[in-house]
Amino acid sequence: MTTIQTVAFDDQKPGTSGLRKKTRVFMQAHYLENFVQAIFNAIGGAKGKTFIVGGDGRFFNDRAVQVILRIAAANGAAKVIVGQGGILSTPAASHLIRSRKTDGGIILSASHNPGGEDEDFGIKFNMPNGGPAPENITDAMFREASVLVSYNIVEAQDVDLGAIGETTIGGMAVEVVDCVADYAALMETLFDFDKIRAMFANGFRMRFDAMCAVTGPYATEILENRLGAPAGTVTHGTPLPDFGGMHPDPNPTWAHELMAEMMGDDAPNFGAASDGDGDRNMVVGRGIYVSPSDSLAVLAANAHLAKGYAKGIAGVARSMPTSAAVDRVAADLGIEAFETPTGWKFFGNLLDAGRVTLCGEESFGTGSDHVREKDGLWAVLLWLNILAVRGQSVSEILEAHWAKYGRNYYSRHDFEAVDKDKADAMMAALRGSLADLPGREIEGLKIANADDFAYTDPVDGSTSAKQGVRILFEDGSRIVMRLSGTGTQGATLRLYLERYAESGFDQDPQEALAPVIRAAQGLADIQGYTGRVTPDVIT
Ligand code: G1P
Ligand code: ZN
Repeated sequence: MTTIQTVAFDDQKPGTSGLRKKTRVFMQAHYLENFVQAIFNAIGGAKGKTFIVGGDGRFFNDRAVQVILRIAAANGAAKVIVGQGGILSTPAASHLIRSRKTDGGIILSASHNPGGEDEDFGIKFNMPNGGPAPENITDAMFREASVLVSYNIVEAQDVDLGAIGETTIGGMAVEVVDCVADYAALMETLFDFDKIRAMFANGFRMRFDAMCAVTGPYATEILENRLGAPAGTVTHGTPLPDFGGMHPDPNPTWAHELMAEMMGDDAPNFGAASDGDGDRNMVVGRGIYVSPSDSLAVLAANAHLAKGYAKGIAGVARSMPTSAAVDRVAADLGIEAFETPTGWKFFGNLLDAGRVTLCGEESFGTGSDHVREKDGLWAVLLWLNILAVRGQSVSEILEAHWAKYGRNYYSRHDFEAVDKDKADAMMAALRGSLADLPGREIEGLKIANADDFAYTDPVDGSTSAKQGVRILFEDGSRIVMRLSGTGTQGATLRLYLERYAESGFDQDPQEALAPVIRAAQGLADIQGYTGRVTPDVIT
């Protein structure tokens, strides 16, 4: 074991989901090592502890796992459990942290950001409950990283992660486990595999686009091997370090191959895509796209049809920018509904306390209390289970849902790689104008309320301020604006738009939202500050 003198980096501040930077930033001398040491310092050391380590297989994943093993060993960790080849999907890692009762885990991923030497890399720590470290811990990591003067590392050869089994490094045990087996077994406890298998046997067709990312092996094992879907149901199923050049973000823009097939003449009954690390999902029916906010609402209304949720759900939670569609389901079911800041870490306390069973975000994330991360394949399996029980198509299920609850027309507009100073100035001006907005009318919409979302955790009382500007209109329409906390280049402005309709459910969301979109431009002067009118990505 050696102690290496180092110089602290001043930019190791975790964002919405861990520390994300360009891969080359992580590859510079000491950068990764410093942050791993800062993680261990922030959690009270690694001595005698057991951790899970794995990542989504993107470029530098393999090198980073070896570094983490050497630093964990030098810090006295008792054992590290690693997915074979250093690979684990984020939900599978969360499950292993919980099922093996470890002291947490380190997950390597930049989620849906592209991978490669010139693209993005990321690292985050999950707690013993399997969920992302809360803000007080990520703040402590940043503090530790900012003053770090040395790290401990074992000098040793690489550990062979190719073969399942146990080995050691610097006196620390390393157990290499199958990436898929435990996760697939968990899914079998939640869903009626026999019913889904019967549906496939009756000719039900689906396409799952793994986007050359981590879910390929999981989806192939579960959908094709265990549920009997025909070979070829999973496409782009081999994880590649650069995701084959794909942008593994499951939305209509980036999963365009799947969208084209699902909107085509001979479309399968059901389509789905997953992201780089397997926690996101996009769901598409034959000829119909399901917005993530609607997907969450449909899953909440129908979860009891799957055996794992047959007793009903305790409550639901959604991130603030997510549409209120799920709130209507909760009101109908007589269960609690929570509104949290953006990021999965805010759901952890509610899930641990048993206050909620299902939670979700508009950014293609849905999950339940089975792990403490969002879970893409889980959401797909719950949809399949519901389709198998109801015997209806996706569009029939959506239409029935809207007829009962009304439709929350919803869209998110992203303006990417905006000049950071200009984006900050725009948000500052908008925040400064909030007090004067109530009562004002714009585009025929009257503003009822405007604020900067602040959250008090109902379980531990911790508070988070400045979580996004909300402008609420008298007819229930809503504009939300915030800057992304996961980008690696300039600023990304996210504009969230919502309008509730009690009838007329077959409009194009962009048309239904047109006045709200114009109001947002008028109130925030996006064009004046950033020079942008047209968003880069619309979901
Ligand atoms: C984005 C999403 C957010 C999600 C996060 C991690 O964060 O908007 O819902 O939890 O990625 O997947 P943002 O870039 O908006 O901070
Ligand atoms: Zn992800």
